[in-house]
Amino acid sequence: MENEVFKVTGGSRLSGQVHVPGAKNSALKLMTASLLAAGTTQLENVPDIADVEIMAELLTRLGAQVNRDISNSTLEIKVPENIGHRADYDLVRRMRASINVLGPILARCHEVDVALPGGDEIGSRGVDMHIAGLTKMGAEFNSDHGYLIARAPKGLHGARIWLDIPSVGATENILTAAVLAKGETVIENAAREPEIVDLCLMLNKMGAQISGIGTNTISIIGVTKLTATTHEVVGDRIVAGTWAVAAAITQGEVTVTGVNPTHLQIPLEKLMSAGAQIEIANDSFTVRMTQRPNPVEIVTLPYPGFPTDLQPQFIVLNSIANGAAMVTENLFEARFRFTQELARLGADLQIDGHHCLVKGRLQLSAAPVEATDVRAGAALVLAGLIADGVTVVSGVSHIDRGYANFVSNLTSLGATIERTRESI
Ligand code: EPU
Repeated sequence: MENEVFKVTGGSRLSGQVHVPGAKNSALKLMTASLLAAGTTQLENVPDIADVEIMAELLTRLGAQVNRDISNSTLEIKVPENIGHRADYDLVRRMRASINVLGPILARCHEVDVALPGGDEIGSRGVDMHIAGLTKMGAEFNSDHGYLIARAPKGLHGARIWLDIPSVGATENILTAAVLAKGETVIENAAREPEIVDLCLMLNKMGAQISGIGTNTISIIGVTKLTATTHEVVGDRIVAGTWAVAAAITQGEVTVTGVNPTHLQIPLEKLMSAGAQIEIANDSFTVRMTQRPNPVEIVTLPYPGFPTDLQPQFIVLNSIANGAAMVTENLFEARFRFTQELARLGADLQIDGHHCLVKGRLQLSAAPVEATDVRAGAALVLAGLIADGVTVVSGVSHIDRGYANFVSNLTSLGATIERTRESI
């Protein structure tokens, strides 16, 4: 059997400039939100990643026509007056963000059948808060042969909803249902990630009435109809943060453009504690590092806390730091699974529940490793950049889900990396 792999040769110092595209975790949600209005939605700054393809396939099955122009990063979605109401298992299992069609389809059709996503490589990933919120708005839920079936024969109405934790997905599904519900919905303890702000901004352009955007209390007054619009996807803070760590661990100097640095406030502060110099501009920042990193304590939390999606990359940074640091993961219970692969490169890691004690080593040692999810995959490539020898990372399809032009971006910064096929 042949398998696609990345071969990374360690030892290069990264330097230069890299541009980040729109955020995966915004683009996918904006695509589902297009279902809320018949007509043509135009999305700009859409990343060239595998997950966008999967979402385009899902929208197509629901009756939309999706045209992608990779040369100028745009996506045109033509949504008909009547859309389908079923999201099939073969797509949902490939991409968990498919669950985000729940809110928009329920709002438009008053009925929806979505395959239950199940758990994945990073955790169990329940949908109980999505269901509880939409139930308060008048939907009735059942599960049948692996599908979540929701019906709201009388339509949805506004409600006051308190989330147990500020779940990104639950906030989004409730938001996208509430914009067309009757009356006012208030989401308390809502998530406030920049990608949620982006979604709210697009929905308001479509005619929605959302206030409290970017705070933990979002209020939505339902309207009867929305109009398709044009929207530019917010820059990807996680891709930007990944390049920032790559610059720091290779003692390089990299300017990252296309992202709002305030979306990365805590990660950039952590890099400064690690010894990096950071220069901030409006929509770019530069990371310069001239020393072995100092260890940095990390605790992942919902935004504006430290993002779980940068936790694996910072474990890599700590793995070559001049001391020990504790990394605490509060969002996904299985997100430390990748550390077993990182240990193959010689990293000194001790896991105790949701804590990982990382003791810095002078250097990592190249070995074959397997990417288990998108961020773990990116982190293992970063580890390869600071290992002696050639690290072969398999499971690269995980990385392709979230990083556009990953190899060419790294190559342009001076890394030695190639995509190739290997027999396994
Ligand atoms: N949770 C529940 N019940 C729910 C909803 C969430 O128990 O009803 C739990 C989850 O199992 C998880 C925690 O709450 O343990 C946080 O989940 P959340 O709903 O906030 O996350 P998500 O919407 O499933 C999105 C991103 C993730 C990112 C998280 C946190 C997308 C497509 N995914 O997931 O991105 O880590 O928010 O910021 O937007 C990635 O890009 O690599 C990625 C995993």
